[in-house]
Amino acid sequence: MDTVSQKVPRPQIRQTDCFIGGKWIPSASGKIFETIHPATEEVIAQVAEGDKEDIDLAVDAARGQFDGGEWSRLDARERGQLMFKLADLLEEHADELAALETLDNGKPVKDARAADIPLVIDCIRYYAGWADKIQGDTIPIRGDYFCYTQREPVGVVGQIIPWNFPALMVAWKWGPALAAGCTIVMKPAEQTPLSCLRMARLAQQAGIPDGVINVVPGYGPTAGAALVRHPGVDKIAFTGELATAKIIQREAADTMKRLTFELGGKSPNVVFADADLEAAAAGAHLGLYFNQGQCCCAGSRLFVESKVHDELVERLVEKNKQQVIGDPFDPATEQGPQVDEAQFDKILDYVGYGKQDGAQCVTGGKRFGNQGYFVEPTLFTGVTDDMRIAKDEIFGPVLSVLRFDDVDEIARRANDTNFGLAAAVWSRDIGKAHRFASQLRAGTVWVNCYDVFDAAAPFGGFKQSGLGRELGEAGLAAYTESKTVTIAVS
Ligand code: NAI
Ligand code: MG
Repeated sequence: MDTVSQKVPRPQIRQTDCFIGGKWIPSASGKIFETIHPATEEVIAQVAEGDKEDIDLAVDAARGQFDGGEWSRLDARERGQLMFKLADLLEEHADELAALETLDNGKPVKDARAADIPLVIDCIRYYAGWADKIQGDTIPIRGDYFCYTQREPVGVVGQIIPWNFPALMVAWKWGPALAAGCTIVMKPAEQTPLSCLRMARLAQQAGIPDGVINVVPGYGPTAGAALVRHPGVDKIAFTGELATAKIIQREAADTMKRLTFELGGKSPNVVFADADLEAAAAGAHLGLYFNQGQCCCAGSRLFVESKVHDELVERLVEKNKQQVIGDPFDPATEQGPQVDEAQFDKILDYVGYGKQDGAQCVTGGKRFGNQGYFVEPTLFTGVTDDMRIAKDEIFGPVLSVLRFDDVDEIARRANDTNFGLAAAVWSRDIGKAHRFASQLRAGTVWVNCYDVFDAAAPFGGFKQSGLGRELGEAGLAAYTESKTVTIAVS
């Protein structure tokens, strides 16, 4: 019997230009940049490199569409219907989009098909359902007045996204913006512009009016910065690195833009001795190694109660040994390459710091193969709170295991970080799990599970992990302004 799995074919690349005001156009400068397939390092496409001039055009298109009111004043139910149509088209093209994601980002096609693209479709449908349910309040104020609030779209939104979940970040950003009636200028990550451009084409085919969605591919300090500074943009929604967010916050101050940020983490994953150890091991493995470790919510500090430390580590080591690494177009592959050379180098630097600081590298620690940006699944034990691998976001397949004995100390240690995006706890004692969840300073706490995402559940960070929330009703609210109307009735 043939046990070799059938490789998923590479998709055709159809869109590489800027998408502005409903037109597909090269960048004003004529410049292009290359995007690569990280498993082979080969160039897969030349993409229009947008800069300030292109951003100016795109903001004009978005501004014109917003101020003209075709989209923002369209019957809310019709806006929702167009979004449902987009979701249907995304679903029809699900395999193509998954393959495009694998080609541009390097993630296993198995994950793109099972996770990324289904979550994209679900998110757009979820927010399509909100379009005609955005309501205000009536307020009993003093005197002979009738007072009510209404929620209005915030206006033109600039959306800057990263490369780790390229299509999903598009959905998280477009969904609430479209439902609220905003118009959009998006700058996808320079590493992964392709799925965003393809989705813009599908939005056009769905009948979303020209100028509602505009996409300008390009680099952060040029196209991204021009979007942040533009006085015609009302809000910036950003996902990426903390250092970049701080630059954006400063730059956006001049025009008092609304800001939402979804940033990094060093999320604690705490396993108590009374946990279901196989479930905890599987959850810890998924929580860190999923998406090659390139998750903002990665459970990168695994705290394990001493009594079960060795047993849990053994199970994790076994899982790392069995991890199928290789061609991401092979549907059997569980781990693909890191997104680019910069990330690959950063990760291997951190492996070096872990060794220098005295942690034990139990699995991995080096490049896998000799082509592409593959890193072996790496596990360090003997990690202490002060080591660089326990403090900094590595964004790769490097797990730090820390021991604990003192159950009362563990919440303090888990919270001893400037980040606060996510956390998890594993215990069969539900009272203990609840108590611990309430002590954690994090925007999401998973109990006896990890990486459970749903478009209806808000996501975002405490402390320096972010500002505001995405998804759910909270995510929608961040794309609206509240207007108070007071009418004399005497
Ligand atoms: P980054 O924050 O530089 O890039 C994210 C997006 O911001 C990209 O679209 C980029 O072009 C844009 N950008 C960069 N500089 C900008 C500027 N001055 N003005 C406006 N836009 C700008 O992240 P990068 O360099 O890709 O990754 C570096 C590290 O950041 C990673 O190693 C990881 O630790 C973290 N990261 C966290 C993510 C998350 O989901 N929280 C996602 C990606 C990266
Ligand atoms: Mg950067």
